Amino acid sequence: MPATRRKTANPEAEWFGFRRIKPEDKTGLVRNVFASVAGNYDLMNDLMSGGLHRLWKDTLVRRMNPKPGQKLLDVAGGTGDIALRCHRRTHGEADITVCDINPAMLEQGKAKALDHGIMQGLTWVTGNAEELPFPDRSFDTYSIAFGLRNVTRIDAALREAARVLKPGGRFFCMEFSPGVTPALKPFYDAYCLNVLPVLGQFVAKDRDSYQYLAESILKFPPQEPLAKRMEQAGLSRAKWTDLTGGIAVIHEGWRL
Ligand SMILES: C[S@@+](CC[C@H](N)C(=O)[O-])C[C@H]1O[C@@H](n2cnc3c(N)ncnc32)[C@H](O)[C@@H]1O
Repeated sequence: MPATRRKTANPEAEWFGFRRIKPEDKTGLVRNVFASVAGNYDLMNDLMSGGLHRLWKDTLVRRMNPKPGQKLLDVAGGTGDIALRCHRRTHGEADITVCDINPAMLEQGKAKALDHGIMQGLTWVTGNAEELPFPDRSFDTYSIAFGLRNVTRIDAALREAARVLKPGGRFFCMEFSPGVTPALKPFYDAYCLNVLPVLGQFVAKDRDSYQYLAESILKFPPQEPLAKRMEQAGLSRAKWTDLTGGIAVIHEGWRL
């Protein structure tokens, strides 16, 4: 039964945070969340993580080690934090594409790039990680930071990553993980479920979106199952690195 197989392959497609939904509704619901949070997204990131997200993103980009002349794709790139770091690291000499399903997030990113005086080297494309609007084998590096847990069919997004990477290309995913170290787990879960929605309510005036974002972290697959799914999608030699006790995780793989 195709419907049953779909369920088993992408169990998270049925969940919008802790709410059970029809998989076909998820992408639209997620799009609404990010349309709503776009204006406060950068500020809220700093507040929610105490600035840690900046260090995690620095670590990711150091690991990616982008080079001048390479073609880089940052999917679910939002307000451009990863792309801007890659631009800086390559002295503006890489060809960087930011792809996101939400034009409002990209608009924030474009404005931020202009504030940094960046006019060239970045292309902003509206598109879905599950059906990327790019040809096969076109990028040296694919990254997705804090985006994969919002995608309806994670396996489709992983297959798309493998498709658009050149042979020898590298895949990087950074995501919050439910698989934090046991000593941190009770505090982490309480923080996600009790503190984040309240911050969202008072700062961004949007409790529901931050409730979803917190719940979606706890629904995301832990490190080992995600690494297996990467391998199944054609991203080889999958491995991961835990950051800050596994609160954030960098997954890496190769398109061979
Ligand atoms: C938490 S933000 C991360 C933004 C940025 N990568 C960062 O690290 O700050 C998640 C982003 O994923 C985007 N997104 C959600 N579902 C998507 C999909 N199916 N395809 C592409 N982007 C998606 C949202 O619009 C949002 O900009």
